[in-house]
Amino acid sequence: MAENGQKSKVLIIGGTGYIGKFVVEASAKAAHPTFVLVRESTIADPVKAKLLESFKNLGVKFITGDLYDHEGLVKAIKQVDVVISTVGQMQLADQSKIVDAIKEAGNVKRFFPSEFGVDVDRLHAVEPAKSALAVKANIRRAIEKEGIPYTYVVSNCFNGYFLPTLMQPGLTSPPTHKVVIPGDGHPKAIFNLEEDIGTYTIKAVDDPRTENKILYIKPPNNTYSFNDLVALWEKKIGKPLEKLYVPEHQILKDIQEAPLPLNVILGLNHSIFVKGDETNFEIEASFGVEASKLYPDVQYTTVDQYLSRFV
Ligand SMILES: NC(=O)c1ccc[n+]([C@@H]2O[C@H](COP(=O)([O-])OP(=O)(O)OC[C@H]3O[C@@H](n4cnc5c(N)ncnc54)[C@H](OP(=O)(O)O)[C@@H]3O)[C@@H](O)[C@H]2O)c1
Repeated sequence: MAENGQKSKVLIIGGTGYIGKFVVEASAKAAHPTFVLVRESTIADPVKAKLLESFKNLGVKFITGDLYDHEGLVKAIKQVDVVISTVGQMQLADQSKIVDAIKEAGNVKRFFPSEFGVDVDRLHAVEPAKSALAVKANIRRAIEKEGIPYTYVVSNCFNGYFLPTLMQPGLTSPPTHKVVIPGDGHPKAIFNLEEDIGTYTIKAVDDPRTENKILYIKPPNNTYSFNDLVALWEKKIGKPLEKLYVPEHQILKDIQEAPLPLNVILGLNHSIFVKGDETNFEIEASFGVEASKLYPDVQYTTVDQYLSRFV
């Protein structure tokens, strides 16, 4: 809560991005005064016009600015209570600029850096994914060093990135004949709908239980091994698929031979689906909380419901 007992004012940096737009919508719908930092070039971009119009209709306010304009950033941050960054891969390291601006502004009650993936402190990734993910861990350390109150949202896999094709390269819908499965298909991963990720993130904004904690989005019905996922899909289409298992040594060779950024993506998939990095640790109260336990009122979309869209 803001000091006057109202819902916190929220600034989203990267609100016009893939996951950012769901966070903006959730914030506005939850009646948080919601601000989005937008670059002048984005305001003028006809492709983004429809999205900005939909934000406007939800009562979202725009603040013109840029991650690389320190004074403007400080001024924007001074107008709000909570800052959520959803900037993309290319800007992750430069979130140090947000940390600097929050430090100077001195009024921020909570900062959510751009995470929205795996827990970067609990990974068994190989290079170059290891270094790519270390960028997020470095931002965590910078936030902690400055004593800025934080929440790290570990949302695990975005449904839209993984489920519409069951991760089959070259397909535009889930497979109906043959499926390629990394490793032995046993490690469990977690899949969440983007709208639900936005909803849970915003629920955490004014919740003291999520302060200085990792918010894991791990609802009970969204954890699946690759084999379970394929079995669920087979049930939906009423026929078995031919299965091709790719051994780990082949996956590691593919990572080494792939160009950037494919090698990073393959490395991330290796961490999730071969090493089981989304589920191979316990969430301990000292560092984390689980979203569906904190907010049992949220009617999240299950993987089973989501996959039915593609039948
Ligand atoms: N779990 C998963 O499955 C998964 C999948 C993908 C991504 N992620 C994670 O989600 C997070 C967000 O990624 P994304 O793919 O959603 O990002 P994205 O679509 O690339 O969006 C990036 C956002 O940053 C804004 N931006 C870029 N440069 C900026 C600047 N100089 N100043 C201010 N804003 C700037 C962009 O604005 P414009 O609209 O103006 O360009 C856009 O709003 C990342 O941490 C990423 O690792 C997770």
